[in-house]
Amino acid sequence: MRLTVTGLVVRAARRTHLTVPLTRLANPPTGQLVREISTAAAPKDESTADVAFPAQSVSSVHEVDPRKTAGGSRAGGDTPAVDPAATRFKEELKGKNEPNKIIHGHGQSGVLIQSKAYVFDQTSNLSPSILGCIDRQLYANPNHPICITRRLIESVFPAPTFKNHVEADPVVTAHDNFDVLGFPQDHPGRSRTDTYYVDSHHVLRTHTSAHQHKAFQSMVDRPETGYTICADVFRRDSIDRSHFPVFHQMEGAKLWKADYPAGKTHLRYPAHKNRQQQIEQDIRSLPRHDLEILHAPIYDNLTNPVQIQHDIQDVRLMVSHLRRSLELLVHRVFSAARAAGVEGGSSDVNDRLKVRWVEAYFPFTSPSYELEVFWQGDWLELLGCGIVKQSILSNAGLRNHIGWAWGLGIERLAMILFGIPDIRLFWSEDPRFLNQFKEGTITKYEPFSKHPSCYKDVAFWIDAAPAAATPLSTSHAGSSPPGAAAAAGGDATKASPTEVQPAAFHENDVMEIVRDVAGRLAEDVKLVDEFVHPSTGRKSLCYRINYRSLERTLTNDEVNEVHQRVLHKMADLSTIELR
Ligand code: PHE
Repeated sequence: MRLTVTGLVVRAARRTHLTVPLTRLANPPTGQLVREISTAAAPKDESTADVAFPAQSVSSVHEVDPRKTAGGSRAGGDTPAVDPAATRFKEELKGKNEPNKIIHGHGQSGVLIQSKAYVFDQTSNLSPSILGCIDRQLYANPNHPICITRRLIESVFPAPTFKNHVEADPVVTAHDNFDVLGFPQDHPGRSRTDTYYVDSHHVLRTHTSAHQHKAFQSMVDRPETGYTICADVFRRDSIDRSHFPVFHQMEGAKLWKADYPAGKTHLRYPAHKNRQQQIEQDIRSLPRHDLEILHAPIYDNLTNPVQIQHDIQDVRLMVSHLRRSLELLVHRVFSAARAAGVEGGSSDVNDRLKVRWVEAYFPFTSPSYELEVFWQGDWLELLGCGIVKQSILSNAGLRNHIGWAWGLGIERLAMILFGIPDIRLFWSEDPRFLNQFKEGTITKYEPFSKHPSCYKDVAFWIDAAPAAATPLSTSHAGSSPPGAAAAAGGDATKASPTEVQPAAFHENDVMEIVRDVAGRLAEDVKLVDEFVHPSTGRKSLCYRINYRSLERTLTNDEVNEVHQRVLHKMADLSTIELR
């Protein structure tokens, strides 16, 4: 079992992408499919899981270059051609003012998010259930564990050095989410199976780093030399106790500037030295901690090099400032958890906490690291970080600056801090949950119920092609280095948007249907059986859905009804045939 850093992701080698015929109409997994559409009447059912063209009927499917559709390399300024019908429909969406709801009309569909109207196109794959999570702003409720954790983290990176932001609008351009940060075109995170596309050019951000470029730009004329950003992020993913398609991330950065006097090259050296001394001084002013650090090499190798523009001494200093800062974060968070009585890495509260630094890869930092903490008998990945790529700073107008950045998933920390066993609880509106927490205080979560599970299976055939892997066996796709997938979601073991296979069954499509129909009633969905038919060669998969409410006991009839609706929607997937 492998945990990725920021997304609470427990991704074993069970993700993949199986080949099926090109006739797939709902949720194409790789962004390769564009539907030619007719202008038939809009269907009545607004709960369609895939809303790419809910208002239109699909007449045929063909392959296109996905780089020109899903999260392609459109530059920031390259604006799409204006379509008068779309412009009119946008005005209508604004007039209706029904935020986060899919609206159909005049053969088009769209949505209003944070007062901005978007018209769906062939890449859109938003679902009503995901839209229902937008605008909850759990990070802004002072008595909610997400906000309490956010504040705790901000206290380690306070003003006036750091500007602590939140970013309420979840829609960013694919350019800001991927391109500006140097994500390769075939990065799995760009895939429509992993990322929610609002339209061909906009996504629900998959990580807070989507705001990095603009945050750096705004630092050109601000007094702060650092920032933290907190926001909700969205990834299509599996269903279990530690995965929810919306979760929260925080990102931090700190920069140092050299005041190179224009034209006077002989004064560059003292300016550089001054900057070095500033970093040294900043390291000295950081509080000490008593964590036990088991392993912390710098790493400077082919896959994780010190950048060519950097002075090795500058990098050593920045890395040590970065590490000390994040070790302090761990110290603060985990001491608070222990003080609240949450069982920790050792039975003895006086035992020192153990951490270690591990090599990592992110397209926008080098060298890059992950920080792991020894907690409840295991090494737990906590966050990713590194030295910011100089090209990113230069593009933001910060040529003479150098610095570090980190990112982490708040739920993972909050689950530890408060002893919260199931990620769905964060979304609960039950007062028995919400009333347990109070601003500025870490309290151990007291379970208020344990309702029975109800398991239901769904079995279906998929067409296995020779190249297809199964959800239980892995093959590496894409050219990104190992670990790359963690950076913005996506799983390197799955299809990439540039993969030339035809439409394929993808596990995330099943997950999305279950989420849409059952919502938070689905506790987990697991592949429990697979076999290949000896004579036809067709593959059968069986997934087991565990229905369990956190708040009440579900009746058998109720679960049967929900499960029937799941089966009904699955029957519409052209990539499978129910058994
Ligand atoms: N954005 C990265 C992720 O989602 C985390 C990260 C942020 C890594 C900043 C390095 C620097 O996993």
